[in-house]
Amino acid sequence: MQSYSDVLIIGGGAAGLSLALRLAETHSISLISKGKLTEGSTYYAQGGIAAVLDQADSFDEHVADTLKAGADLGDEDVVRYVVENGPEAIQWLIDKGVPFTRDANQQPPYHLTREGGHSHRRIVHAADATGRAVETTLDQQAHQHPNIQLHEQHIAVDLITEQKLGLEGNRCLGAYVLDRQSGKVKVFRSQFVILATGGASKVYLYTSNPDTSTGDGIAMAWRAGCRVANMEFNQFHPTCLYHPKAKSFLVTEAIRGEGGYLKLPNGERFMHRFDERGELAPRDIVARAIDHEMKRLGTECVYLDISHKSKDFITEHFPTIYQRCLEFGYDMAKEPIPVVPAAHYTCGGIMTDLNGQTDIEGLYAIGETAFTGLHGANRMASNSILECLVFAKAAGEHILAQDKKKTGIDILPEWDESRVTDSDEEVVVTHNWHELRTFMWDYVGIVRTNKRLQRAQRRVNLLQSEIKEYYGNFRVTNDLLELRNLTDVAGLMIESAMQRKESRGLHYTLDYPETFESETPANTILIPDNFIH
Ligand code: FAD
Ligand code: SIN
Repeated sequence: MQSYSDVLIIGGGAAGLSLALRLAETHSISLISKGKLTEGSTYYAQGGIAAVLDQADSFDEHVADTLKAGADLGDEDVVRYVVENGPEAIQWLIDKGVPFTRDANQQPPYHLTREGGHSHRRIVHAADATGRAVETTLDQQAHQHPNIQLHEQHIAVDLITEQKLGLEGNRCLGAYVLDRQSGKVKVFRSQFVILATGGASKVYLYTSNPDTSTGDGIAMAWRAGCRVANMEFNQFHPTCLYHPKAKSFLVTEAIRGEGGYLKLPNGERFMHRFDERGELAPRDIVARAIDHEMKRLGTECVYLDISHKSKDFITEHFPTIYQRCLEFGYDMAKEPIPVVPAAHYTCGGIMTDLNGQTDIEGLYAIGETAFTGLHGANRMASNSILECLVFAKAAGEHILAQDKKKTGIDILPEWDESRVTDSDEEVVVTHNWHELRTFMWDYVGIVRTNKRLQRAQRRVNLLQSEIKEYYGNFRVTNDLLELRNLTDVAGLMIESAMQRKESRGLHYTLDYPETFESETPANTILIPDNFIH
């Protein structure tokens, strides 16, 4: 089955949905998501969205904070572009009806919270469930728009490009997409294809992310011939609830922004020993400090304490987290809660320009899947949804400025299933999933060494050859596709980590603990064999 739309958007988070809504008046859109539309990182975002809204704040300060948190690796032009477009992005969400928490004493009248690395209060939020407010508002509007065709339970398998078909040039023509309900692989043709597939933190055993974060966009773009950059910088969020049943439930950094302390089991605060900004140092520093203290003391967690604030304050600002902690037996208004770091955000990704364009004509990447140059070696809190919104607008404007014409090819080759059968060994997929995530956690985590990276690389190579064989013989399933993508992305992370011979931001290695002194530190850019200049 083949369908055509002016624009094919793969991913229904903040990036994909906002682009769809920006283009829907003039273009027909197909938007696919591999689960329910709302099932992506956006829905779970807590802290908020950073933008300069307070009179006492300035673009220059937001730019400087972002560059500093990114360990001087961010691209200043990109950072400035995102920061300066921040207020418009927030206004767009307000116009769409997102119910941000209000504060009548502010102008505009929204409460601004604070998080690590920010020198000002500049984070607009909807209590402690900002992502839910954003995602459900945009989701509702996308469902109602006649020009947006939503295809839930559809997972993109691979991109179709001119190069792949052996044609001249290298335009993206569409994608093969598995309908998870029927088990059939369909062809989605389009003039413009957008990867808005989110991050890859599921490659780690412990993660704050939902199951959808399997790096599919990065892996598909790499296989299609796009460069990827800075994959060594995977962010670990310092504070996820430590409880066997909590599945690394995130405890927002805004708790520290509103005065929460990090403490050792004996009640002692420790962050000032690591950074003068204490609990509000950027995440790479806080997560590493926690990791260090846990290893030094042999403890399984540290504690986050905001019990010195009133119960009213806590339940007003953090109702979701308060409730969730209670379910696990912790009353955060009365006692510290146990926390540990977990994989949270993929700073690297598919290389794009300021329009969200990748190396392949007609193919865009926006949101967490992209590498724009904004985050450098460590993303500053609440700059991610901002990036999704700003680049969705940029890509939308770029698409609007181009002629709407069909690509010239009316029928693309159907997915070939003639040589495959149903798998009789699903256990291989499950086992490899677990193995991959475990060794990535152990060997490519918060602290790295050459030896650990080499070990991980050998295992990835082995998994890749097993998966290739499996993929060639059996019908594709959601789990197999995700495993293949995660393994490819793990390979890119390890390769990038091996190439960086220094410690910077989120990449810390005992073999090269120093940071290079350089005016213009380099990004780690990986180039696939099929890259066309
Ligand atoms: P996502 O929201 O992850 O959406 C990805 C979409 O792509 C999903 O619909 C998924 O189904 C779909 N998809 C993926 N692969 C495929 C495929 N192969 N085929 C079809 N569909 C596919 N950032 C902030 O700025 N502020 C915060 O307060 C904040 N809090 C966070 C809290 C948590 C718990 C988490 C996990 C993240 C948080 N972040 C926060 C980060 C931020 O939420 C994400 O970086 C951002 O929402 C990513 O948006 P996205 O649109 O790029 O991807
Ligand atoms: C949080 O609320 O701590 C997460 C914010 C983010 O990831 O930007």
